[in-house]
Amino acid sequence: MQVKSIKLKNFRNYEQALIEPDAGVTVFTGQNAQGKTNIIEALHLCCLGRSHRTPRDEELIRWGCDDALVRTQTVQRDGTHEVSILLSKKQKRKKTVRIGARQAERIGELLGHVCGVLFSPEDLMIIKSGPAERRRFIDMELSQLRPAYFYALQRAQRALNQRNALLREIAREPAREPALAGTLDMWDEQLAVCGGEIAENRREAVAALSACAQEAHAALTDGRETLSVRYVSQAAEAEKPAEKLLERLRAARSEDLRRMTTTVGVHRDDLYITINGKEARTYASQGQQRSAVLSLKLAQLELAERERGEAPILMLDDVMSELDPGRRRQLIERIDRVQTFVTCTDLSDLAGARQGAVYRVESGTLNREK
Ligand SMILES: Nc1ncnc2c1ncn2[C@@H]1O[C@H](COP(=O)(O)OP(=O)(O)OP(=O)(O)O)[C@@H](O)[C@H]1O
Ligand SMILES: [Mg+2]
Repeated sequence: MQVKSIKLKNFRNYEQALIEPDAGVTVFTGQNAQGKTNIIEALHLCCLGRSHRTPRDEELIRWGCDDALVRTQTVQRDGTHEVSILLSKKQKRKKTVRIGARQAERIGELLGHVCGVLFSPEDLMIIKSGPAERRRFIDMELSQLRPAYFYALQRAQRALNQRNALLREIAREPAREPALAGTLDMWDEQLAVCGGEIAENRREAVAALSACAQEAHAALTDGRETLSVRYVSQAAEAEKPAEKLLERLRAARSEDLRRMTTTVGVHRDDLYITINGKEARTYASQGQQRSAVLSLKLAQLELAERERGEAPILMLDDVMSELDPGRRRQLIERIDRVQTFVTCTDLSDLAGARQGAVYRVESGTLNREK
């Protein structure tokens, strides 16, 4: 996949901008707080319909403006794709997605038109933080590759919210439990069906990811370290995860009623990441964690390429300066084949990488230097 152009209008600190990236590496360089990450964020918005930094779209609209626009054109094996995202403060529809000239009914229709892997310093959270970050990591990957997965996630979230609301309602008025039990049964079933679909996808994806990441990590560490990722789920081992989840939801009902929350489901899943058999979150050093994340990202890139039959774009926000020269070289070698967007404050961080296009970023303006 190739991004041919990115157009911004009133997006973050940009009034107007047009980027025509190189087929290889496009670099955005400049001092802090000038607008480098904002461009990566715009690309991410086109990949997944949301920012990687905030769940609140309004923050993306330039201060003092009512609307923001991001438009990208990509070329893929099947032809040209154009995606536009219009964010609005005042209009009833806060986010409008257009695929070509057609307005999309659902955000999910956006997925796949721009497919990318982002690597930023905050990704260390995948190792260090709680299970939610790790679920987000695998969910973002799978959503881009399989829109049906994205819709299953949405349905599961809705069912979970409804079930929790019902649990609270019954807690307030216990006498209504018999009358509401049937509705609770229905949400149990919905949660189990969507959860089963999610679990099957995650299980398969994590197995593939683990194999790829292990290989990447062995190369990064000259064979000294074995990285492994295991899917942890209440339904992980079950042949039919949906059945297992339903059984466990039923068994947990009285406990859930007491706690007023759903204790069973894929919203409790986690990834267990180890280096040489020891949990990375607890035992890995800062440098080991950084390498592990890099290996995961390289694996993500490879899986996306394998599944789609063409490489996604790669976005590297501020990561070069964080890697030691050896790892940087490994990364540069591996990104040779994919269209890459890199931000840095110092061009010397990219020594050794092809720099097809270089944009200097200064308070929301872009000047192409190369
Ligand atoms: N909605 C907005 N409207 C106008 N400006 C904004 C908006 N949101 C953020 N900014 C400005 O954008 C700038 C930050 O942009 P960005 O995060 O892209 O910086 P950066 O160049 O990546 O910096 P660093 O090197 O520190 O990562 C900040 O100065 C911030 O005040
Ligand atoms: Mg930045």
